[in-house]
Amino acid sequence: MEIRPGSTSLFDWTGDGLAVGLFEETTELTGDLVALDGKLGGAIAELIAEEEFKGKVGSLISTRISGNTSIRKVILVGLGKGEGLTAETLRKTAATVAKSARKQKCKTLGIYLPIYNGDAATTAQAITEGIELGLYQDTRFKSEPEEKSPQIETIDLLGLGGQEAAITRGTQIASGVILARQLVAAPANEVTPITMADTASAIAKDYGLELTILEQAECEQLGMGAFLGVAQASDLPPKFIHLTYKPQGTPRKKLAIIGKGLTFDSGGLNIKGAGSGIETMKIDMGGAAATLGAAKAIAQLKPDVEVHFISAVTENMISGHAMHPGDILKASNGKTIEVNNTDAEGRLTLADALVYADKLGVDAMVDLATLTGACVIALGDDIAGLFTPHDGLAKELEQAADKGGEKIWRMPMEDKYFDGLKSGIADMKNTGPRAGGSITASLFLKQFVKDTPAWAHLDIAGPVWADKDNGYNNAGATGFGVRTLVSWVLG
Ligand code: BES
Ligand code: MG
Ligand code: ZN
Repeated sequence: MEIRPGSTSLFDWTGDGLAVGLFEETTELTGDLVALDGKLGGAIAELIAEEEFKGKVGSLISTRISGNTSIRKVILVGLGKGEGLTAETLRKTAATVAKSARKQKCKTLGIYLPIYNGDAATTAQAITEGIELGLYQDTRFKSEPEEKSPQIETIDLLGLGGQEAAITRGTQIASGVILARQLVAAPANEVTPITMADTASAIAKDYGLELTILEQAECEQLGMGAFLGVAQASDLPPKFIHLTYKPQGTPRKKLAIIGKGLTFDSGGLNIKGAGSGIETMKIDMGGAAATLGAAKAIAQLKPDVEVHFISAVTENMISGHAMHPGDILKASNGKTIEVNNTDAEGRLTLADALVYADKLGVDAMVDLATLTGACVIALGDDIAGLFTPHDGLAKELEQAADKGGEKIWRMPMEDKYFDGLKSGIADMKNTGPRAGGSITASLFLKQFVKDTPAWAHLDIAGPVWADKDNGYNNAGATGFGVRTLVSWVLG
């Protein structure tokens, strides 16, 4: 499929499906639409009247144009109130339109949507992202993909002539989101620490990034006892992945992105019981997936910022050499941890990843992790928790998330709650009381950050997965985090 900046006017466009966005208060046709309606024998006005179309956001109606016309189908899509138009509305609307057009077997589609805030580039980028993400289908694991509508071949963004660069940016960002979705959705017998390392290596090769993979022995040398404690029950080798993007010339700043990479989380000997959702725990590398997705996008977008992409990848399994509940592990900064619950494994792997990233001398770092069920209880399925002691970085990430169309909400890092992690025998325990579980998790992580001026943690346990279709997120892996990270790095 090719998305193109419209080179013809709305009136002159010809093809299978023409989609037009209308605001809630203005379903009366005006301007170019009057002429187009005239050319189509009044079909648009008739459709609006017949369906009592009100332009409500997300609503969509369509009709077949009879006779031998230059357009086969007209699709009308509601945009809600004019003053409420956002880039996110455009993303969602574009996805709704593209999915409907595919269902209606349009091979060529023209989309005519208003320009957001006088900014044609942002508009073209948002529409492109919506189309690419909305049309994404995961058929990798079907032996015979069910009879699907033919794919759309070309989409013209009418009124957005000259926006090639913005369309390219949208496509590059979407490619990163889709990589993250593919990694998260693939089961744990497909996506393993080895294949995660292979994916990083493919990105490095395709886009010229630097890559270091630390094998188990090297992690041992670095004293990564927390990461390796989690890894020790697995029959698969752990992989510590470090990809680096360096711009040409002196970087404006240096950043690090760290992702939790548990390709499966059984809970370990504190095994997840029946009804715990253990079969969904292939998603527990969603942070690492977002990290690699962001690497793929950023390598194409080429900002003037140096970015390190880091993940300590393994699986949390049970076996005769699994860590015992109560074991004491020593992380690479020398701190000791009493593992009072082997299911709180993500923070153990992140501990060593954070210590490693903290030594790189970056200006700021952000980790993403499907860390706690508690965060899902607090914020639900659509919103990630943001934990940081740094107000400036909080603001940057909130703005980046807003720009990318992802929802994050800042949570308090109440230092007093660290009391819940006090251990009688080691420097800390890995879990505290049930109450405030996502906060104690973030306070645990904070123990492993020392020199970096700003650090933030995003708990993405909720939004990493969608149970049902919603706009450009179809049921399944969302690729959450990539767009926030990309906006943050570019900003
Ligand atoms: N991977 C889970 C968290 C999770 C839960 C992710 C639900 C996605 C959906 C994590 O490793 C975990 O098991 N956390 C425990 C922590 C507890 C033992 C303190 C949890 O949330 O129950
Ligand atoms: Mg766990
Ligand atoms: Zn986990």
